[in-house]
Amino acid sequence: MTCTSPQSKAGGGGANSASAGPALLGIRDSSGWTLHDYQVVDSTNLLAAGLASWNAVRAKTQTAGRGRYQRSWVSDEGGLWLSAVVPVASAESARVLPLLAGLALCRVLEDLGLGTVRMRWPNDLLVDRRKLAGILVDSFRPDAAVIGLGMNVQNHPESGDAKLSGQTTRLADLLANPPSLDELTALVLRIIRKEMEAFAESGFVLPADRLNGLWGPPRTVELDLDGELRRGAFTGVDAEGRLGLWSSDGNLTFYSAHQVRHLTELES
Ligand code: BTN
Repeated sequence: MTCTSPQSKAGGGGANSASAGPALLGIRDSSGWTLHDYQVVDSTNLLAAGLASWNAVRAKTQTAGRGRYQRSWVSDEGGLWLSAVVPVASAESARVLPLLAGLALCRVLEDLGLGTVRMRWPNDLLVDRRKLAGILVDSFRPDAAVIGLGMNVQNHPESGDAKLSGQTTRLADLLANPPSLDELTALVLRIIRKEMEAFAESGFVLPADRLNGLWGPPRTVELDLDGELRRGAFTGVDAEGRLGLWSSDGNLTFYSAHQVRHLTELES
C-alpha cells in the first residue's frame, strides 16, 4: 500500500483491462457484508463502484491502486486492499464519510491492541509519523459511497517504491501476532458497519468528540486553500466535520474539507 508521490504507473494494464475482467476468487458473507475476493484488480474502489451497499471488494494486489490527491497507491501482496460500499442518505452525510471511516479504522486498531495510532487530517493513520493506513472515499453515485482502505500488514511497500522507505509502517512491525488478512477484513467490515449504523441512528450527527481524541498532541499545521497558505494551530473538527484552525492573530476559523487542498503538519 502506501501513498507515493504523484507518478504515472501503468494504469489499466492489470487484469481489469482484459475483456473477461479480473479473476474472482470467491464471494462469501462476512460480518454482515458480501465480500468479493479477487487475486489482482486495477483498483478495488473502481470494481466496487457498481455494487450495492454492504458489498465489499478485496484484492491480493492492485495494479493501479488509487490514493488521495490523484496519487498512486503501492498495493503489493500481504497488505489489506479493501473497498466497502455504504449507503448515503444525503450529500451532507456523505461529506463526513472520510472522517467516519478514519474513526472506524482507528477503532479496529485499538481493538487489536495498538495504542499508538493517531490520525492526520482527514484520515491518514500514522504511528510515529510513519503511515500505516490510508483511506480514499469515492462517490460514484448519489445513493452510495465506496470507502477504500489500504493497510500495510505483511507487505513491503518500499519494494514497490523506494521513496517510501522509512515513510511507512506495517502491522507486522507493530504487533507480535498480527491478524491474518481474513481476520482483519472481518473486523474492519464489522466495525465500519457498526459505525455507519450508529451514525444513521444518531440522525447523522458526526461523533466529533471521539474524532478529536484521535489527532494526537496539539500541532501547528499549514493549510493549502487552493494555493493560498494559512498557518495555525489545528483544533480538530466541529460537528459538521469542518476543520478548525487557530491563527496567531487569535482568530478561530473553520474550513470545509473541500476548501482544504492539503494539510501539512509542521511540528508535533
Ligand atoms: C491515501 O492516499 O491515503 C488513500 C489510499 C487508499 C488506498 C486504498 S487500497 C483499497 C482501495 N482501492 C484503491 O484503489 N484505493 C483504496
